[in-house]
Amino acid sequence: MNLPDMKQAKSRNKESVEFIYTNPVKTDKFSGKKYFIKTYGCQMNVHDSEEISGLLENLGFNEVNTELDADIIILNTCAIRENAHDKVFGFLGRCKHLKKEKKDVKIILCGCMAQERSVVDEILEKHKYIDLVFGTHNIHELPNYLMNLGEGLNVEVKSNEGNVFEVGESFKRDSKYTAWVNIMYGCDKFCTYCIVPFTRGKERSRKSRDILREVECLKEKGYKEITLLGQNVNAYGNDLVDDLNFAELLESVAKTGIERIRFVTSHPWNFTDEMIDIIAKYENIMPYIHLPLQSGSNRILKLMGRRYTKEEYLNLYNKIKTRVKNAAITTDIIVGFPNETEEDFLDTLNVVEECKYDGAFTFIYSKREGTPASKMDDSIPLSIKEERLHRLNEIINSHSNLNNQKYLNTIQKVLLVGKSEKDENKLYGYTETMKLVNVTCDKSLIGTIANVKITEAKSFSLDGVVEN
Ligand code: SAH
Ligand code: SF4
Ligand code: F3S
Repeated sequence: MNLPDMKQAKSRNKESVEFIYTNPVKTDKFSGKKYFIKTYGCQMNVHDSEEISGLLENLGFNEVNTELDADIIILNTCAIRENAHDKVFGFLGRCKHLKKEKKDVKIILCGCMAQERSVVDEILEKHKYIDLVFGTHNIHELPNYLMNLGEGLNVEVKSNEGNVFEVGESFKRDSKYTAWVNIMYGCDKFCTYCIVPFTRGKERSRKSRDILREVECLKEKGYKEITLLGQNVNAYGNDLVDDLNFAELLESVAKTGIERIRFVTSHPWNFTDEMIDIIAKYENIMPYIHLPLQSGSNRILKLMGRRYTKEEYLNLYNKIKTRVKNAAITTDIIVGFPNETEEDFLDTLNVVEECKYDGAFTFIYSKREGTPASKMDDSIPLSIKEERLHRLNEIINSHSNLNNQKYLNTIQKVLLVGKSEKDENKLYGYTETMKLVNVTCDKSLIGTIANVKITEAKSFSLDGVVEN
């Protein structure tokens, strides 16, 4: 085991990182065996689970959708907030119970929590029924670990400074129409509240030619939409020599002619005018931007280490809105950061009032051990944090509803991606601006982009019918 020392995390080694291509093991050694995978956290983890599933299916495993039927149970964990930890250990408790009845079942924990020393220590001390723990930097090794799995608890976690191992197209992608494409790994921003730079390591961008090859390959397979992924997607290329920056990459991806391009998550500090121009110029770059605000108070933004002021954020926001036609913008906001006063919170509400977001993920600040904010005085009572969250959500939801009302009776291009669970005469899909639409139409339209007339607008979704 080789875990990062959180105290030294800011002194990153700047040596260049190698991308090493591996040929995933293919065997029928585990044929007939079943796996269940449970994924917590962000798109990064969702995509990692696609990789894990691909690697397992290469070994002969088949996926099942309940842990009760599985020979191996994999928990791909998230460490962003304290409650993520509680949920995972709650689920592990059930797995432990299961193992009493089914001795051969293997329990595996991976993902961001596995990169936390405190979690690994807790597992070593209290959860010895787990069979394997591996981290976010050595997913490609999973086949080897499984083939050589020793008795008892095996911990295989690597430091976060290493090379990146790629597994080619060994992903079992969740969808046949939309695909995630990693363009960079890690984060160097070190926002003071955030654990991601510790669990995902330093920023490492993939070479543009590898990304473009992946996009071409997805296009050939019939994928309609790709989402470029990174914790700081627009810091892409800063660590590369003689390669593209994010705006240039976006343009090259647009020129492949793939029908829809999205990207998450953009950091306001890295958002350039060149990016805005490219987004505005290409019709296949979707006019939807997730632009985390975190707080509207300059004092708190500084304490958070976000690198922008409220004025700079609003300036950027307005530039995007003016230059990108009908752009939808969503955000992330944290309430109750250590020492946030009512006045600071009102500053956040003011920015929210001004931006009238299409939607937002809102969170109560959660203390993450080892981060700089964990040492700040956090004396605001939980009841006040909850009340602020409630007030914020009321406003966010009303804006989301207002924005959605503007879609009523308009025709939208909707990529139909799945069958509605509630109504068998409906498919669901997303507008260019990422609005969820439930569409009454023939099921054969799945996987196509249809012209849909919006017949009803609610706070969190739209209803529509296909126009011929
Ligand atoms: N890289 C992205 C976000 C990654 S984490 C960005 O910089 O915007 C997703 C969201 O979780 C963050 O935007 C933030 O709002 C929230 N978050 C991160 N750490 C948190 C913490 N300690 N407590 C509460 N929310 C947190
Ligand atoms: Fe976390 Fe900040 Fe990096 Fe986003 S930019 S992942 S919030 S440290
Ligand atoms: Fe969670 Fe790791 Fe993503 S901490 S939010 S799964 S990068």
